[in-house]
Amino acid sequence: MKKDVMILTGAGQIGMAIARRMGYGMKIVIGDKKPENAQAIAKIMNDAGFDVEAMEMDLSSRESIKNMIAKAQEYGDVAMLVNAAGVSPSQAPVEAILKVDLYGTAVLLEEVGKVTKKGGVGVTISSQSGHRMPALTPEEDELLACTPSEDLLKLDILQPENIKDTLHAYQLAKRCNEKRVMAESVKWGEKGARVNSISPGIVVTPLAIDEFNGPRGDFYKNMFAKCPAGRPGTADEIANVAELLMSEKGAFITGSDFLIDGGATASYFYGPLKPQE
Ligand SMILES: NC(=O)c1ccc[n+]([C@@H]2O[C@H](COP(=O)([O-])OP(=O)(O)OC[C@H]3O[C@@H](n4cnc5c(N)ncnc54)[C@H](O)[C@@H]3O)[C@@H](O)[C@H]2O)c1
Repeated sequence: MKKDVMILTGAGQIGMAIARRMGYGMKIVIGDKKPENAQAIAKIMNDAGFDVEAMEMDLSSRESIKNMIAKAQEYGDVAMLVNAAGVSPSQAPVEAILKVDLYGTAVLLEEVGKVTKKGGVGVTISSQSGHRMPALTPEEDELLACTPSEDLLKLDILQPENIKDTLHAYQLAKRCNEKRVMAESVKWGEKGARVNSISPGIVVTPLAIDEFNGPRGDFYKNMFAKCPAGRPGTADEIANVAELLMSEKGAFITGSDFLIDGGATASYFYGPLKPQE
């Protein structure tokens, strides 16, 4: 029997929380660079009544993305995309962050946009980091939004001499995600489909724990201690926003980015988290 299909990239905590919230009654195809992660999440979900297939996939490869889409289409029409794959500043060098988080996300949005069914919905997980970086010029924003994906990594602002460190690369990647979602939403709209991004603050997951234990650990711990919420978030709270965006209640929302960070960004600009000169 054919079913509507959800494509989930990134078998992490945020991806699983969204899939559990939205994936009932669907075929869920989960792809992760670490097949053991995809299999672990698939087992938890299959044991909880979902219909999940795990596969190995690499977000930084167009071929791998197309391969995953083809696998999904064996089960039915692609109706949902959740992109929760990514690497953080403490997990990977600059080139890998740009290849996975920036280029890979752009390709995935483009390729799924080509096949999404009418009424399809997508979310990609960006980050508060993209909101903390100072504004780029309108021209730079447009280049991030609209440059053909195969040329993205050739942009001047993404060349090694213009990138300070892995955090800067991550911020640029996440800013690009938001701009890409805006441009892609126009194309998805032509198919009667919607796509948005969610920019979480600190959410306790293996990725965030790597950050707590990495070179910026104290910075992150201070950030959630001093943000208005006074704590890190949970993946299920990110799924609350995804549920709004992906359900009928979000029918008028597309091309948008939703910051959900316990107020950390607000405090960074106008409160106790503001960097001292
Ligand atoms: N946790 C946070 O505090 C936080 C905050 C803001 C944004 N995010 C973003 O949320 C997304 C999900 O992260 P998470 O916190 O759930 O982390 P997680 O570590 O639980 O999951 C991330 C998954 O992505 C996979 N992955 C990494 N590179 C990949 C690749 N090239 N192809 C396919 N899969 C790959 C990993 O193997 C891992 O299973 C990431 O994009 C991250 O940048 C997380």
